[in-house]
Amino acid sequence: MAHSVTPGAQTGRMEWLPIARAADVSTRPLAVTAAGVPLVVLRPEPDAEPVVFADRCPHRLVPLSAAKVENGRLRCAYHGWEFDASGQCVDLPSQEGAPPPRASLPRGPQVRVRDGIVEISGLPPADPAELFTNEDESLLRAWHPVGIVGKDDMSEVELLGTKYRPGEERTQERWGLLWLAPREPAVELFDDPDHDDANYVGAWLPPARSPASAGIVADNFLDVAHFPFVHAKTFGAAEEKIVERYAVTDEPWGCRSVQDQWFDNPADPGVAAGLRPVRQRRRATYVYRAPFQLMLRLEELDAGAVKTILFFAQPESLTSTRIYTKMLFHGIGGVADPPPDVIRSEVAFEEAVLEEDLELQRTLRLPGLPLRMRDELHVRADLLGVHMRRVLTRLKEESQPA
Ligand code: FES
Ligand SMILES: [Fe+2]
Repeated sequence: MAHSVTPGAQTGRMEWLPIARAADVSTRPLAVTAAGVPLVVLRPEPDAEPVVFADRCPHRLVPLSAAKVENGRLRCAYHGWEFDASGQCVDLPSQEGAPPPRASLPRGPQVRVRDGIVEISGLPPADPAELFTNEDESLLRAWHPVGIVGKDDMSEVELLGTKYRPGEERTQERWGLLWLAPREPAVELFDDPDHDDANYVGAWLPPARSPASAGIVADNFLDVAHFPFVHAKTFGAAEEKIVERYAVTDEPWGCRSVQDQWFDNPADPGVAAGLRPVRQRRRATYVYRAPFQLMLRLEELDAGAVKTILFFAQPESLTSTRIYTKMLFHGIGGVADPPPDVIRSEVAFEEAVLEEDLELQRTLRLPGLPLRMRDELHVRADLLGVHMRRVLTRLKEESQPA
């Protein structure tokens, strides 16, 4: 629960603000707001004195109030970076070696407990102001999905904080979606996958909504380091935490990254038949196109199965993003066209995976994606997200009146 307090009493020359009742502060991080600044207050151990930090992880600014405390350390919910009671980053799971000094939390305010009240002195700076929100002007110059053809009522749709009537606007159909561009688009839709590829069986997930901005939703889709933490209940527990260095190729208004990985494939019928080992190779191809067109193709190189996830975000308003996910299957379970029960279970699994991401997105307090490199701490695993930020920065810059 979030508490809000206003500046409090003065003691001597130091101003102390009450932020919480000491009895409410435990090893479960508590979000508070003091003089407009989001803070997190917690006890690193059940009997320890309270500590207070700015309520954001230096990595991707996710609130630390969503973190877990374990063995005296605070572990961020998104990528599992761990901080000790002094705020020093002591573990950065996606890469080897000691975390860089900037990964540590900026020093928090001074803290004291008086008459059962936790008080602080010296507020950390407020959140960065430059965020790419769902109502950024530059988004007028791009294609946006506004509904599934044949399924959604599209007489009037919400986009960029406005209502549009697609019948009166520039639209096109692609991948079974209707797309709308309010102004002359700077970017076209990408070509993948081959839209007339008859070898694929397609299925939609029910469209979902996130309170996070489309930029954050897209960044989450491109993120390759969060699986062991956000997706621990579905597939993440067995995933490798270290993210090997990977390459990203620039494409017009986007990028592409091909990553080969090892994984266990017990569901491959060829494993039971003794034709192949359970440890197999997988190729993951990520494609990004501005502003929020995404694709992930997962090819099981040994078993021959291909699963493609098309993922598109509709920036509806400052507090709402609609998410469309279409899956394309080929060769799942050893047959070219997987039967309906296989498709159903694949879709249900993907829905559970998406729900884990949405759960994290619901904890976010920032209304947009930071674009300035210095506002976050990008590490090796974040290369795709860095490319996306660069593309969105360019879209923003080129949309500004000269
Ligand atoms: S570890 Fe906190 S946002 Fe990545
Ligand atoms: Fe995810």
